[in-house]
Amino acid sequence: MKLFYTAIAVLLPVATSFSPASISSRTVATSTTAIHAENGVNGSAEKKKVIILGGDGFCGWPTSLYLSDQGHDVVIVDNLSRRKIDLDLGCDSLTPISSPETRVQAWKEVSGKEIKFHNIDVAKEYDLLVQLIKDEKPDSIVHFAEQRAAPYSQKNAKTKRYTVDNNVGGSNNLCCAIIDADVDAHIVHLGTMGVYGYGTSGGEIPEGYIDVTLPGGREANILHPAHPGSVYHATKCMDAILWQFYQKNDQLRITDLHQGIVWGTNTPQTVLDERLINRFDYDGDYGTVLNRFLMQGAMGVPLTVYGTGGQTRGFIHVTDTAKCIELAINNPPATGDRVEIFNQIAETCRVRDVAELVAKLTGVEAKCIPNPRQEAAENELDVSNRKFCSLGLDPVTLDAEDGLFSEVTAIVTKYKSRCDPKMILPASFWNKARAEECADLDPSSIKLKDDVKDKVEP
Ligand SMILES: *[C@@H]1O[C@H](CO)[C@@H](O)[C@H](O)[C@H]1NC(C)=O
Ligand SMILES: *[C@@H]1O[C@H](CO)[C@@H](O)[C@H](O)[C@H]1NC(C)=O
Repeated sequence: MKLFYTAIAVLLPVATSFSPASISSRTVATSTTAIHAENGVNGSAEKKKVIILGGDGFCGWPTSLYLSDQGHDVVIVDNLSRRKIDLDLGCDSLTPISSPETRVQAWKEVSGKEIKFHNIDVAKEYDLLVQLIKDEKPDSIVHFAEQRAAPYSQKNAKTKRYTVDNNVGGSNNLCCAIIDADVDAHIVHLGTMGVYGYGTSGGEIPEGYIDVTLPGGREANILHPAHPGSVYHATKCMDAILWQFYQKNDQLRITDLHQGIVWGTNTPQTVLDERLINRFDYDGDYGTVLNRFLMQGAMGVPLTVYGTGGQTRGFIHVTDTAKCIELAINNPPATGDRVEIFNQIAETCRVRDVAELVAKLTGVEAKCIPNPRQEAAENELDVSNRKFCSLGLDPVTLDAEDGLFSEVTAIVTKYKSRCDPKMILPASFWNKARAEECADLDPSSIKLKDDVKDKVEP
């Protein structure tokens, strides 16, 4: 007994959406709009100097290009730790990403705009960070420089310790560096919906703060209690406490964005040249759920649903991530204002319903496998995202028939020869009990189906 497939969640009539002809032409990949600042979701004309920490990553890179495209002056800081982790794990982005130097050179050729790149470790090279902030005097610093995979953070003691040291140390360094450099830069930090826990609020999750009645009947509005579900999520909760402190003590201006699961690959900027392509992770540690399903669908291997698939999660498309960051940059809190918190999601959806959508598109069945994560099998999730919507965000949703699923499928199909099917199944387990339940999962049992291989041949 190898793969322990239980209930078949969905088994839909065979559909073949792989031939290039069936890929919608209204995809991100063919869009040539959004190249002008006036097309920004919130049309602020003010040009900002922005440092993007972690600007080489899955969200950081498309955000850097989007902000540059909108007319902002962008400086990327990254120590390429994500690329190094790929080497350690023996896998690679499905898409062939160029070096940071090649990327910024290609952007200059394509757009005429300059993005500077600095290889600095925010968690370790404090003096270089202070000097950079002094030299650049940024209006905003976007902080993506964190180890962002919950499974990787749960892999072993080494990855748990790295995740805490890097993420919390980096956030603290950033606050100290802004104070030392004496530059009034607005911090825009990427948090996660996971700080709230899933289904623990007893109703709609408000944006950051929650009204409560304290003992004695006193009414108060407090930071939403932290309910981390992994070491990674715990670091984002610890970050949130640091922001509260540095706002109060040093009047730093801070916005924390609690983001949902990001899906999609390319944006109108990353498609302009192959050297600008965004990374696409499909492995058990870094592949986010919807992208993993789309990849599995395109490859003709079962969509691996963990547990019952009853987990409800928040989702957002990568193009909207970039738009939200610009909205946050353009709407900073005033000095002395409490930490601004937004929920950065487009919608919530149950994992098995997401699988069903992808199964419908690809004709590949979804199968439940034991859950590597210590989490509730089923949860409800109701989340407010009114702040971004009131600033003009009109997010892409999963049911929108605008070809975004096909865009991912097209990317995956194009680069399928780079896929190592052994990397797809979960490779990190939350605790001993979960590891034992998953003991029968056999990575080498995942094989690309022959007929699908033929079908996707260009
Ligand atoms: C950069 O990232 C890695 C993580 O892979 C880290 O271990 C390393 O020490 C970092 N810093 C420098 C200065 O290389
Ligand atoms: C952009 O943001 C400003 C400031 O919050 C707001 O007043 C304005 O209505 C927004 N513009 C659009 C187009 O949503």
